[in-house]
Amino acid sequence: NVKGPLAGKKVIVTAGGTVERIDPVRYISNDSSGKMGFAIARAARAMGAEVTLIAARTDETPPQDPEITLIRVESAQSMLEAVTSRWAECDILIKAAAVADYRPMHSADSKIKKSGDTMTLELVKTTDILETLGKMKDGQFLVGFAAETGNAEYYAKDKLVRKNLDLIVANDVSTEGAGFGTDTNIVSIYDAGGLVLDLPLSSKDEVARRLLTLAAERISGVAL
Ligand code: PMT
Repeated sequence: NVKGPLAGKKVIVTAGGTVERIDPVRYISNDSSGKMGFAIARAARAMGAEVTLIAARTDETPPQDPEITLIRVESAQSMLEAVTSRWAECDILIKAAAVADYRPMHSADSKIKKSGDTMTLELVKTTDILETLGKMKDGQFLVGFAAETGNAEYYAKDKLVRKNLDLIVANDVSTEGAGFGTDTNIVSIYDAGGLVLDLPLSSKDEVARRLLTLAAERISGVAL
């Protein structure tokens, strides 16, 4: 067993982009590669935690560490179920996944055939997983991400309060070297009191280590 500042702690990490089915061969998703979430899962394990990685669609291969429990999900709904069913046992949850805000109202059982010149897809809101967990909080440390293309600070702080988070990691995904698909990220981490940590261009591994160190300090009350 790995020793470290998170020894004995159960950490759940979500990664990747959810897949919202239109029909058996088509879906709505996003550009998340899984890299950020995978880096967090690896870093949590290296710090001694018992790690469950809940991954939606990813471009990258997930960590091949037998000590990291990998659960594959597809949609926002299946991610919600996977996370809430493990919530009571969780100490820290980090939600790096890019979850669809809307899904097709109807998912066809067979391939939709080409017909008219235009086609309308009706979408309905998915359940906000973080907001649901924020309301179910019972001692867990809850961390969200905010992927923004401007006004990152404003939107991140709003999400922190609205979703009852302990920390939020804002990344401006329109900045070169930050966000989707890259090996690096540029983040600002906030708590209810304001800015906690600004990380200039850093590897996703480094962002993961710094974020988990913060979480470990906050749950133990000891500076690391
Ligand atoms: O995977 P990579 O290629 O490495 O890219 C990393 C990343 C850009 C995906 C990652 O750093 C990131 O920002 N993840 C969050 C993406 C996102 O969905 O941001 P958001 O601002 O739309 O959502 C805010 C938070 O609410 C997120 O923690 C999200 O997981 C959560 N959410 C959103 C919608 C929903 N229905 N349920 C949720 O829990």
